[in-house]
Amino acid sequence: MASTSTLYIFVMLGLNYILQVHGTSCLAVECWFVQEKPGHGGFPVAMRQEKSLMFVRMSSDSMEAEYQQEPPAGIDSARVYHVIDPSASLCSSSLHSPEGSVKKPQCEINPFLPQPSIVKWAAPLTGSGQSPIYLEADWFSASLRGLNEHLVLSTVMRAEKTSNELNVILSVSSTSALVRSRLGVPVVLNCWFWMESSSPLFELGFAVEWRYQFRGVGRLIVAYDAKNDRLAETSEEGVELDISALHQTGNASLLLEEAQVRHTGTYICSIYLPYLLAQVAIDLEIVEPPSLFISPSPLPISFSGQTLTVQCEASGFSPLSLEFHWEFFGVDGTVQPLGKGAMSGHRQATDGTFSQSSRLTLDLGKMDLGQAGEVTCVAVHPGGTRRTSTTLNIIGVSGPTIEDSMAMVAVALGLYGLIKLCSWMLSRSGSIDTDSVEKKDK
Ligand SMILES: *[C@@H]1O[C@H](CO)[C@@H](O)[C@H](O)[C@H]1NC(C)=O
Repeated sequence: MASTSTLYIFVMLGLNYILQVHGTSCLAVECWFVQEKPGHGGFPVAMRQEKSLMFVRMSSDSMEAEYQQEPPAGIDSARVYHVIDPSASLCSSSLHSPEGSVKKPQCEINPFLPQPSIVKWAAPLTGSGQSPIYLEADWFSASLRGLNEHLVLSTVMRAEKTSNELNVILSVSSTSALVRSRLGVPVVLNCWFWMESSSPLFELGFAVEWRYQFRGVGRLIVAYDAKNDRLAETSEEGVELDISALHQTGNASLLLEEAQVRHTGTYICSIYLPYLLAQVAIDLEIVEPPSLFISPSPLPISFSGQTLTVQCEASGFSPLSLEFHWEFFGVDGTVQPLGKGAMSGHRQATDGTFSQSSRLTLDLGKMDLGQAGEVTCVAVHPGGTRRTSTTLNIIGVSGPTIEDSMAMVAVALGLYGLIKLCSWMLSRSGSIDTDSVEKKDK
């Protein structure tokens, strides 16, 4: 027995050592303390915003390297918090800007008011109606966004009244707050949670909720009441929540079996503990580059001086953000920009993807494209740039064109006629003169 506890102490000392030496990311987090102040006579509430600082460590045993430090200038000592976060989510390196960096992680800390939840799947958590004495404390919530924009985090923290020692009770995070996916593939929307198991609320169960929000319209995707082990009824299809992973590891990630355009939007992962709630938002963007179709292909054999029309149709893309331009790759290795062409309006297919086309008019008389080459349509889309080509052959480039020859024939004929006319008139006037002379002579 004695040896077990000695071993325990050794392990703890070892852990402590590792944390002190390697746990360097568990540092101070700069934060804005934001508090709503009730306005006068029903006027909008005023916000009070103050600089604040959270010194984070993973347990009350571990040393806090900066604990003894004076708060930096400009931070009120009442706004300096000492946070114990056994989940270590506040220790992520992306929550600390490197020395001298201008970019800062975002952090906001607010006073939090524990209250019974009203949603159906979380209501059983506070069914008794009696709030535990444990809630009689100062509560705070903090929401953070990491430097790389991928990590989002929300915690609920408890402090004994008027103490600045905060304990993380509930923490929800996502390591991919911005998800881009192609069409038709499975998508995992990452969400994790952690709850303080020594908290009396822990025994009472939890609930998980995923909501979808897009342009002000929202709906429930999936909800799970862990106290009664019950999933809420929803009409959403093709989504999956791994219930056993939820209980075992706190993995509340949502699986969309097949990404579709209609899935674009914001997903809110909410974790309810009795009287507590923390949530993170994840943006999903479906980005599918276009498929291109160029016509005619190949182009009919053309004469220089002729005017040609080429059409490039882009389809199956999302979002609606497309730019066309055209290029000519001559057989002699030259590249010529041919402009943007004339862009059509867009159409939307039933699967939500878009199509749009560009028409290029080529006046071969006005441009020198050599004898042959490829007319290339380039479509630039957030999902990638796509190109397709059609072959162009021009005949009669070195010699005169048909029109030229015909014009020359016409000119020659005209000249011939003119000469003929002149000589006829000259001979006519000569004969008149001789006639009159002859008449005079008579
Ligand atoms: C978390 O759950 C998701 C969805 O069920 C799964 O795809 C993912 O692999 C899980 N992550 C881990 C680390 O277990």
